[in-house]
Amino acid sequence: MATRRVRIGIAGLGRLGKSHGLNLAHRVVNADLIAACSIVPEELEWARSELGVESVYGDYGSMLDHAGLDAVFLATSSAVHAAQSIQALDHGLHVFSEKPMGVNVEECRAVEAAVAARPDLVFLIGFVRRFDPSYSYAKKLVDDGAIGEPFLVRSQTVDLDEYAPFQVRFVPTSGGIFLDMNIHDIDLARWFLGDEVESVYAIGGSFVHPEFESVRDADNTVALATFRSGKMAVFGVSRTAFHGHDTHTEVTGSKGTLKIGMTPAKNRVELFDSSGARVECVRDFYERFSEGFLAEAQEFVDCILQGRKPTVTARDGTKATEVGFALTESFRTKSIVRTY
Ligand SMILES: NC(=O)c1ccc[n+]([C@@H]2O[C@H](COP(=O)([O-])OP(=O)(O)OC[C@H]3O[C@@H](n4cnc5c(N)ncnc54)[C@H](O)[C@@H]3O)[C@@H](O)[C@H]2O)c1
Repeated sequence: MATRRVRIGIAGLGRLGKSHGLNLAHRVVNADLIAACSIVPEELEWARSELGVESVYGDYGSMLDHAGLDAVFLATSSAVHAAQSIQALDHGLHVFSEKPMGVNVEECRAVEAAVAARPDLVFLIGFVRRFDPSYSYAKKLVDDGAIGEPFLVRSQTVDLDEYAPFQVRFVPTSGGIFLDMNIHDIDLARWFLGDEVESVYAIGGSFVHPEFESVRDADNTVALATFRSGKMAVFGVSRTAFHGHDTHTEVTGSKGTLKIGMTPAKNRVELFDSSGARVECVRDFYERFSEGFLAEAQEFVDCILQGRKPTVTARDGTKATEVGFALTESFRTKSIVRTY
């Protein structure tokens, strides 16, 4: 008997959506990308020519009515994730949503309720680092007791300076630096420490690009988080690096420390010459996490076909947004903020 396949419609074909689209069309096993939606007409042309998708839609609701659709893959702007997730679940469709699940806590709770109302459907929130081979191996080591009881996570997300002008334009729909970038570090800290954040304190500034200040954002931030049990996290973001995309994480426990991706090396080549010794770095999040992006899409399809639920849940989506929101509030009010 032929293996059942999952028929997917993708919404959002921008910076990340195009990469997800290529994975779904060409690399994910047992997936058929049969529809695509974007509010940008050129992106729909791109979907026809590069993804071979014949059914393209400028309107999301119309794509949901596409005959035979099983699932949607959301890579749209963050501000519409929650509404589009709920609409698809109400249509009886499985949902993959890019992070963040929503840009405020109320809409995340509404997504959680919609997910709970449809236990027959798979909902997967794209916390891609959980699917990266190094991060998932580190998690296994922590769970196996390799560093004893973990009590401190230090995690940062750092992007190249050349993307800053794009980021300034992106802020109004992304939820800002904490929800857009630190959300991954927040999710990792909760995942590794197995605990919930109780209070946060965030500072930052527009040290290189004053334009961020005009949209109430920052180009560099640092934050402290205290967990209910007293465990700790330190989060950093920079939008002004010159060496590459530099995401890394350190987890310290009672018996040791794990360091994940401390040098953002492009590969295992090191050049030794008259200038010294150096490695090339990955340029962007996609290059760093390309294996994770493929693995999360495959997990979404496998969960649907095998009737399983992903280990990352809508609750994780809400909790991360809750902390991201508290960090934003702390940064703006210059005070310690307790989470809900
Ligand atoms: N997991 C990660 O590491 C990671 C990295 C980058 C981006 N993202 C997330 O992916 C999402 C997309 O980011 P991006 O950089 O590709 O943004 P982008 O602005 O380049 O693309 C957004 C896309 O959404 C489409 N869109 C917006 N509103 C829509 C609507 N109502 N209906 C249909 N299409 C709509 C646009 O046409 C465009 O194709 C964001 O939520 C972002 O947070 C995640």
